Amino acid sequence: MKTLIANWKMNVGIRESVALARGTLLTLRGRKLIPELVICPSTIALSEVRKVVARSSVSLGAQNVFWESKGPYTGEISTRMLQEVGVSYVILGHSERRQELHETDEMIHKKVLYVLSEQMTPILCIGESKQQREAGQTQEVIRAQLISALSQVYVRGSERVLIAYEPVWAIGSGEASSVGEVIEIHQYIRSFLQELFPGVSSQQLPILYGGSVDGENAYGFLREEMIDGLLIGGASIKINQFNDIVEAAGEVLEAQGT
Ligand code: 13P
Repeated sequence: MKTLIANWKMNVGIRESVALARGTLLTLRGRKLIPELVICPSTIALSEVRKVVARSSVSLGAQNVFWESKGPYTGEISTRMLQEVGVSYVILGHSERRQELHETDEMIHKKVLYVLSEQMTPILCIGESKQQREAGQTQEVIRAQLISALSQVYVRGSERVLIAYEPVWAIGSGEASSVGEVIEIHQYIRSFLQELFPGVSSQQLPILYGGSVDGENAYGFLREEMIDGLLIGGASIKINQFNDIVEAAGEVLEAQGT
């Protein structure tokens, strides 16, 4: 299986989100093999987008959540509130939140635990900055982020935790990481996850790549067995680009006979 996650970030309001959701559904029409598809609109657009995707195979994700079910947390949103509008996935630890909102590893850890306890699926973002990469610290940084976010986490039954490797320097830069480099990091993450979660299948811990994915480079990533899917920002709000990415995923699934 291949998973595509569309992170619309803070780019589109309610009306545009509804149109985009309709367009996204059209990209699936007539295809025999379709990837697992999760769209993550802004919080305010979730309930309208839900109406569009309600009877489709598309799942809804949120871009953030708080770690308590209710209480005096002005401006925050809980898992229960998200569930009310049909959300089942939550992006956590995105580098934009780590940087702009100073989200710490500890906060991300609390969110991962909370989301899992509420039977939702976390999409945990990890990745190194340009400086860390240049200093040769990529593996060290990723390892530390995984340890901190996933300590005391148990993946039971059919639960899943999606890991999105998003090198910070590749996000929104138009400069995607090379396929070779992504494979190398994914191999590292995979073996570390096997250490952290012995006996848990890799299908329950898919590893996705994100960072300047577009209609042209998507196939190159998706055809690799080590890359379970893509987390897409900018190209997910350009319907032609996104259509090409869905098409690339379909071709890969067909070639794999899955
Ligand atoms: P871009 O695809 O725009 O580089 O964004 C990637 C991302 O941050 C997805 O979460």
